[in-house]
Amino acid sequence: MCGIVGIASRNEFPSVLLLDRLKRLEYRGYDSYGYFDGVRLKKSLGNIEVSAPGKARIGIAHTRWATHGGVTMRNAHPHASCDGRIVIVHNGIIENFEDLRKSLVRQGHRFSSQTDSEVIAHYFEEGLKSKSIKVVIKDFLKAFIGTFAVLVQIKGNDEIYAIKRDSPLVLGVANGKNIVASDIYAFSDMTNRAAFFENDEFAVIRPDGYQFFDRRGRAVQKPLQKFVWEQEASQKKAFKHYMLKEIMEEPETVDRMLFSLEHEQKPAFDRLIKLVRGSKKIIFASCGTSYHASLLGSYFLHRVGIETQTLIASEFRHYANIDRDTLVIALSQSGETMDVIDGLKYAAESRGRIVGIVNVPYSTVQRMSELSLNILAGQEVCVASTKAFVNQAAMLLKIAQEFGFRVNLDNLSERIRGLLRKKAEIRRIAETIAKAGDVYIIGRGLTYPVAREIALKIKEISYIHAEGMMGGELKHGTIALIEKGTPVISLINNNDPDIISNTKEVEARGAKVITISNNPALANRPDAIAIRTDNDGKFGILAAVAGQLIAYYAADKLGRPIDKPRNLAKSVTVK
Ligand code: AGP
Repeated sequence: MCGIVGIASRNEFPSVLLLDRLKRLEYRGYDSYGYFDGVRLKKSLGNIEVSAPGKARIGIAHTRWATHGGVTMRNAHPHASCDGRIVIVHNGIIENFEDLRKSLVRQGHRFSSQTDSEVIAHYFEEGLKSKSIKVVIKDFLKAFIGTFAVLVQIKGNDEIYAIKRDSPLVLGVANGKNIVASDIYAFSDMTNRAAFFENDEFAVIRPDGYQFFDRRGRAVQKPLQKFVWEQEASQKKAFKHYMLKEIMEEPETVDRMLFSLEHEQKPAFDRLIKLVRGSKKIIFASCGTSYHASLLGSYFLHRVGIETQTLIASEFRHYANIDRDTLVIALSQSGETMDVIDGLKYAAESRGRIVGIVNVPYSTVQRMSELSLNILAGQEVCVASTKAFVNQAAMLLKIAQEFGFRVNLDNLSERIRGLLRKKAEIRRIAETIAKAGDVYIIGRGLTYPVAREIALKIKEISYIHAEGMMGGELKHGTIALIEKGTPVISLINNNDPDIISNTKEVEARGAKVITISNNPALANRPDAIAIRTDNDGKFGILAAVAGQLIAYYAADKLGRPIDKPRNLAKSVTVK
């Protein structure tokens, strides 16, 4: 995914505002970025540097997550037409770009990038030779296959044309400024009034107003909605990295969510419980960290007799049979993950019922769901998801509690706080892992998803190969890779004899075992992280938090760019 921003302002603004807004969307992509302020078109590789000369009344900007074409200056957005008059930014994927490109090349257009997006600029250039902008946009909606949120700007003209299909796009109206962006983060500190684009809608955005249209070009009246969003400090403050800041926020954010499930979100939560009770089949759809939280949820619910399936959203269509008695629960921090949205489309086509559990309000997943709950983790700036995982897992544990899972959630935040106090100890252990080429994390039952989540964090942040697996699977092949000194993190819940025996198996092969356990008998081992809880549900969440810290400190030791996994800083002005 990429992030896009456009600003049309009644008064001139410093061009740097485009980058300042874009910086808030950097979590959506950080390979390269660029902006066009009506005069200057500037592109850079790497992290967004919020500095730019000049002033503007209209401008667009883009932060890229490379899909078509490598991370190069040429592939960075914005893209311009041959004559440089039409400038565009795009988030999404144009599936038929090769056909469109061939036909535009036949018409004499010269391409300078390998991206799918550049065809948009040339398509508009060609169309505007003989048609009005509105007709070109209507034709664009017919001709282009794929997903897109597109902003088009024409040199010398003070309008932005914003077009959406399947990629998120929202317009915020702040004091004298109309800001169109991939999500509300771009302007949530400036306004709480926004209008959300629906699929195949477009808008003309001017300094003094805007107008939405449907795919046929008919005007659409779209009242502004007031949105509520936690105004959380997005600054790192005293923390070295956002990742650490966000882990340290976990006690507060989990309390905030649990409180809200008893108060403002209680009616929605009760409806969810009713839906779970009344559904013949329940399927979670999610990706990455959210998938691991869903797996944990499946475990919690299974323990109280509710069978669920957890599917990786990108495979959802291939594995799920959905009908009107099926409840699909989409778990997504951003609420904008395309694989999840695709899965939900399939669920909707098959008449399943959809519940969204998201962190970003007004996101696409939320708007596709008949019922939606918010995990209230606040903005996650770091690409590695941490506090959102804790809140997702706590929400699912709370649901299981309604069906009889015995757990006291009142002291969960206190337990997390207690664990975070051990960060110096965890740091020491993590620094030994930093020397390794491979790390294995083993769990069973509820700790299996946690093992996978810890492995994902280690890979994502420290770039060390890590594999999270079921302890029982070791003997079926992977144990061959355990040698003298190989770090194995073993997640031992109470006295679970099976995982204890797996731990002994790897120890017998010389592994350097690190235990994360709530078993007091293991607390004095040399590399032990002791967790204070005798409750299974809470142990799962706490073990994941310990793993987040391990991943963070290993990455820090290795000097990895934790908040942004790549840094290719280099800058050039194109026009
Ligand atoms: C994990 O640290 C990642 N950020 C990633 O796996 C993420 O959880 C996944 O892409 C799903 O995102 P979502 O929760 O916003 O849908």
